[in-house]
Parts: sequence; structure tokens; C-alpha cells
Amino acid sequence: MNDYYAFDDERRAIVVKRHDTPAPWINYLSNGTMHAFVSQAGGGFAWWKSPVVLRLTRYRQYNLPIDSPGFYVYVRTPDGTYWSPSFRPCETPLDEWSATHTGGRTRFEARKGDLAARLEFTVAPDHDVLLWDLRLENRAGAAVACDVFAYCEFSQPNWEGEAGWGYYLKLQLKTWYERSMDAVAYLYHGGHPREDDCPLMFLGSSRPADSYCGDRDAFVGQYRYERNPVAVERGACGDVDLPCGQPCGAVHNRVRITPGGSERITFFLGVAPGALVDLEAAKRAGAETLRTLRASGAVDEQFAKVAAWWDEHWGVLSCDIPDADARRQIETWTPLNTVHTGRYSRAVNTVAPGIRGIGFRDTCQDMLAVAYRKPAWASGVLSYLLTQQFEDGHVVHYAYPEERKPPLTTVHSDDHLWLPFVAHAIAAETGDVSFLDARARYLADDAAGAGGEATQWEHLLATVRFTEANLGALGIPLTHRSDWNDIIGKYNKRGRGQTVFAAQQYVVALRYLIAIAAARGDDEARAWLGDCLARQAEAIVTCAWDGAWWRRGFDDDLNPVGTHAAEAGRLYLNPQSWAVLSGVGSDDQLRVGMDAVAEHLATDVGLKILTPGFSGWGTEGGTPRGYGPGCGENGAIFCHSNTWAIMAEALLGRGARAWRYFTQIIPHVAMRTVGVERYRAEPYAWVSNIVGPENDRHGWANVTQVTGTAAWMDVAATQYLLGVRPEIAGLRIDPCIPADWPRCSVTRRWRGCELRIEVDNAAGVEKGVAELTVDGDAIDLASGPIIRPELVSGKRAVEVKVRLRSLRLPANSGLTEH
Ligand code: GLC
Repeated sequence: MNDYYAFDDERRAIVVKRHDTPAPWINYLSNGTMHAFVSQAGGGFAWWKSPVVLRLTRYRQYNLPIDSPGFYVYVRTPDGTYWSPSFRPCETPLDEWSATHTGGRTRFEARKGDLAARLEFTVAPDHDVLLWDLRLENRAGAAVACDVFAYCEFSQPNWEGEAGWGYYLKLQLKTWYERSMDAVAYLYHGGHPREDDCPLMFLGSSRPADSYCGDRDAFVGQYRYERNPVAVERGACGDVDLPCGQPCGAVHNRVRITPGGSERITFFLGVAPGALVDLEAAKRAGAETLRTLRASGAVDEQFAKVAAWWDEHWGVLSCDIPDADARRQIETWTPLNTVHTGRYSRAVNTVAPGIRGIGFRDTCQDMLAVAYRKPAWASGVLSYLLTQQFEDGHVVHYAYPEERKPPLTTVHSDDHLWLPFVAHAIAAETGDVSFLDARARYLADDAAGAGGEATQWEHLLATVRFTEANLGALGIPLTHRSDWNDIIGKYNKRGRGQTVFAAQQYVVALRYLIAIAAARGDDEARAWLGDCLARQAEAIVTCAWDGAWWRRGFDDDLNPVGTHAAEAGRLYLNPQSWAVLSGVGSDDQLRVGMDAVAEHLATDVGLKILTPGFSGWGTEGGTPRGYGPGCGENGAIFCHSNTWAIMAEALLGRGARAWRYFTQIIPHVAMRTVGVERYRAEPYAWVSNIVGPENDRHGWANVTQVTGTAAWMDVAATQYLLGVRPEIAGLRIDPCIPADWPRCSVTRRWRGCELRIEVDNAAGVEKGVAELTVDGDAIDLASGPIIRPELVSGKRAVEVKVRLRSLRLPANSGLTEH
């Protein structure tokens, strides 16, 4: 137990009980176009489409005080004291306080004396507006008058431009009170990468403002802070327009609350597009949005829609398992996290400003968790990603769809190979492979515009052609700049380095493509892909086994990397798990590799990515550089990599170990193990990595929220541990659980039907489906425990019964359909 937070599983929420968490614990609020994150202390910022070129408000990622500014509300009582429902920025002691995050909404509840406040944030689904919904309740016997202020610091929308040129650009903007909107309006007219839709920004209230301010420095005052703004101290904003300078939005409402009564004010921070093209039209659009939202019931309706969206998202899968922490993580927090990674890739959190755009490999992986809940979303993203592929099959490394910047075109061995994973995930959920007939343009060779056109299926086959054309001397893929591991390129200075991990990933990609080719009846492609697979598997078994585990790759001189004789980086995690995922190697080798992981890489909060760590990453020329031991790719507990180890153990049928690997690294559990102050990051969001034991900061969780860990943990838990795995042919039901779970159940919405799956493990085994029935009818298990779509079609719900028994498991054939 700790005094920082408690989960409220009923409401799928976390209640944070102290504002001073060791790091900001944030929630993303979004309708897909308008976005914000808000922390437990009210810090955060808002952006429209892009956090880099359409940033609406400021957030100082590396400054002290941390986590500021944000979306601030001040409540001032007649005695001149003032406080904030989010505690920050005023930091006035309160009698009660909590912050609650749930899907798409964050709520602060606070009380000072007889005045109680509830401030709830969400982004309206139907309007590009962040709603700040405040209710004040007077619990005293006498009426109270208070002054309420909402304040945010507007940003210059082009964040990079501002960092470099803001001192000039501040003369190219203005704020004013726009009567037609009854809101503080902000127009930025500096040069802008998205001139056509650079918006009019605004902050308004549900009531006419009693005073307003558009000038940050006038609102805050000289050498003051957001904590004690002079405008709040005076009790009025002074009605300040800003002809140039540092903009803000501040709106003041005076309210009188009857004894026992309450008052509600909603503030609207929003945008109206096209302000640089037609300002009058933008004003009209803004006024219309505000008119709609000010209508009675409109705000409640928007909140209800947000809640319904999340209920629908969460409703795809639920489970009943003996472990409450695992259940909460699987049902609520991982699927919440995967929406954010689906939207933000690796780009934006409290320390990431957004300049990374969309990581190609990253977004592909993120779509694996989106695909089974929202296949249309994943399909749209896939269509876009294919436009970032060159005709020879390789792809960009980062893309900037919203920023309209040229992509980053470094060549990596893995990036393009994630495309078949996405396509397969969509096909598996929907059973449809015809979407691959749609045509997509390649990227022109100079990456400046569109090139030739081909079907999506041809695009996918091009990924194979590229890898086939880029195999090294040992027949496995050349590393290029890197594989999935950003740092591995250090072994490839002269272009001859090769990667076992990318080889194994390639095998899985081929297996997925073969399944798709079969479903498309494309025998020619199927035969060719089969040949590629056989050759690749042969190359891997010939060069990659080190005697007790799988090697990581080869350097320019074909020396093995990840070998028993090495001083550092002797054993790497990924090739052990990916050996299992690829199904290449003897059953014995696959098990022995994973046993080496258990023996050498285990800690009590997860598996290290390698051991031993390098004393400084890369010591060429005697100069150590890069990550310190136990940090990042140099021996941290790399959570993303842990997902694959969980899947590998599940494929091997070792349920106790697979579940231990999963549960120990669940943020809330890892935090309990190492302590809140050491772990620091959110107890509900996945992180990329946790500093390993070789480092004194062991236990510190890094790169929170925007990490590939989220999507893969979702896939690992739902499809490999619970074992409810969509395939093109149907839904595979193949749970892998600890032997001491007598039963468990999963409810899964699939192809329009709700499957209530009851797993009976009276036999006390870890894996092995001996019997599978759907509404009482037994399924022939000859081709695997698969529920074919015919069995659910036209039905709203079916009862599925699974009986586990000790079986001789078939030889592992990796992530495949057969
Ligand atoms: C980071 C990067 C990701 C990469 C991984 C391993 O998480 O965001 O792209 O695959 O590290 O290096």
C-alpha cells in the first residue's frame, strides 16, 4: 500500500491522492484531432493535429518547476485567498484533494473550507475544444461570492520555430476579446508550415466574461509566477488585449453561490481552422462552436460520448483471472495506453516534445493492438504507411504526416518488415484480405513526392524483395543503420554487419505473408515466400546458435555478437525470444535459449535486454560513449523486449514463467517492488525501460506512455497468455496459464458476436486444449483449437467451453497460422 494512489476498478480509474508524485502522472485527452495531456497536478499542454507545428499552449519540458504550465483554474474568495482545484499552480493547502484519471477524462476534486470544487477535463468528441468543466459547491450556511479565473499560456504554434525565432515571432501575433465569440481570441500570423489551416485559437467561458486578459505578462505580473498572478490577487484581469508579445488566455467569471447551492462554469479552449486564409470565416466557425457548446446539455452530452467511446473500446475484451493486478492491467490500462501510442507513436509526453513525428517501425507495432479493437483505424494507418515506402521495398524511418516535413530516410533492416505484421493483424481480425487490393502510391526515390502505384499486396511483397536484396555474407539480413534495436548499428560501421534478430523477424513476416497469400489464393507468391522462408531458416540455424543460446548478430568482420566469449553483451534477450516466435531452431534449442534468459537476465521487475552491460556503450578509440550500464539498450530491463519473452514462454507452454514475466513488470507491481519514489513513472502506463541492477538508479522507469511496450503487452497478454488469438481462418483459443489456476474466463467481441469463453483447468496443466465447444458443439481439433467464423455468424453471443489437459504439444512453429 502507498499513500500516492489507489485504483478504482469499478470506474476504470486511478485516484491520485498526492499532487507531488515523483514525476508527472499524465492522461491524454483527445478526439483524434484536438489533443492535450494533463497531469495529476493540472500541468500539461494542448495541440491541434501536431504538437510541433500546431501547439496551442505552452509546456516547458525541461524546466523547473517541473510539469508546468497547464490548464489552470483559480478560485478566489472575498477574503482574498485563492486556490486551485488541481492544487497547482496555487499550492494553497486544501482540506481535501484528489485527481482521477480514466479513459479520456481527468477530474480534480478539492475542498477548501466550505467550498468544494470539481473540475473535469475532456476533449469534446464533436468539436476541437478542450472542455474544463467546473462545479463549485457552497456547503456553508451563507452565500459566498467568488471570482473564478481560467488561465492558459498560449504558445506560438510552431514550436521549433518558436525555440529559434520566437523573439521575432512574438511581434507577429495578437490576442483580443472577440465579441462575436465571447472569448479571448489568439491569432498567430508568423510564417507557418500549415498556413492553410493555422487556426484561430480561443479560450471562452460558458458565461460572458467579467474580465479577460490576453497578455501573459499582464496577467502574471512582474517577477511573479502562475502561483500568484497579479490579476487573481486583484480579483480582475483588467481587460487586456495583446497587440504583440507573450500571449495567454485568461477569462474571469464572478459567481455567487447560495447556501448549499452550486454553480457550474465550463471553459472552452479550442480552435477554428483557416484563420490565416479567412479570419472572418474562422471567427464565424469559432462562434458557432461556442454557441453549440454553450447550449444547455451540450457539455454533458460531450462527456457522455467520451465515456461511451471508451466503454466500447474496453468492451472488446474482458477476463476473469485470479490475479487482480494482471486483470486490471489487461482489461483497462493497457488498452487505454494503446490508444495513445496509436495516436502519438513515440513523439509526445512530459519530456518528449513531439519532434519525432511517426516512427515507422513504432507505429506499425502500435497498430498490432489497435487492429483487433479498431481494424478500420489500423487499416487507415497502414494505407498511409504504404505511401512512405520506396519502390524497392524499404521505407522511411520517421514520417511527418501533420508537419509536412520531409521524412527521415535512414535505412534500417527492420522498418519495412513490420508492415506484414500490421496487414496480417487486420486480416486476422476481419477475415478479409481483399483490402490489400487497394492501390497505394510509393514514395518517390527522392522522398519528395509520390512515385509509382501498386496494390497494397504488391507493396507487402516489395518488403521481401528488399530484404532478399540486402542479405549479408551469412545469408541473414544486413543490419544497415540498425534493426529494432537502435544501438545495434554500432557493429556495422562498414556495411557488412548482420542481424539475427532481423532474420528472425523476417521469418515471422514471411509466415504472415504466406498466410495472406494462401487466403488470397496467390500460389505463385506463396511458393516464392516459402522458398525465401526455407533459405532464411537454414541460414539462421547455420550461423546463429552459440552453443547455449542464440547470437545477436555479426559485426563487419563477421565476428559473432552476443557470444559466450564476449566480455560484455554476452547474452542478448531478443534473439532468444524471437527464435521461439520465428519457430526456427530445434525445440530443444528454443527452450535452452529461453532457459539462459531465465538464468542470466532475470530481475524481480523484468528481464534485462542483455548482460553484462558495456562499461560505456562502444569503446572504440578508448572513448566510452552512449548509455551507461543498465541504461537503455545497454542492459536495462527493456519492457518492450519483455513482451516477446512472455509470448515465447507462452508458445513453449510454460505458463507459470510466462505469467511471472508478465505480472512482475506491470507498472503498479514493479512500482510496488522497487518503491514509488524509485520507479517514479505512472503506475498505470507502460514504460520503455527500467534502469537495470548494474546501475545505482536501478528501478527508475523511463520513457513513459509512448512506448512499443504497450501494444505488445496487449498482444502478449490477450493473444498468448489468455490465448485468444485472431487468425485469418478464425479465432484460435489456446490459453497458457499457471497450473494452479483451476479456471479462468475471457469475453471477447469478435466478428459481431460476443464469445464467453470458460477455461476449465481441473487437470492443473499450463497449456493444451483437449476439448473445445461452441454452444455445446465440439470442434474438431485436428487443425488446431480454432473457432471458425461460421460458428458465430449471425449470433449475438455464444458460450465457449475449453478443457485443458496435459497434451504432447506440437513442435513450436512460431507466430503462424498453422
Ligand atoms: C526505443 C525506440 C524504438 C526502438 C527501441 C529499441 O524504444 O523508440 O524505435 O525500436 O528503442 O532500440
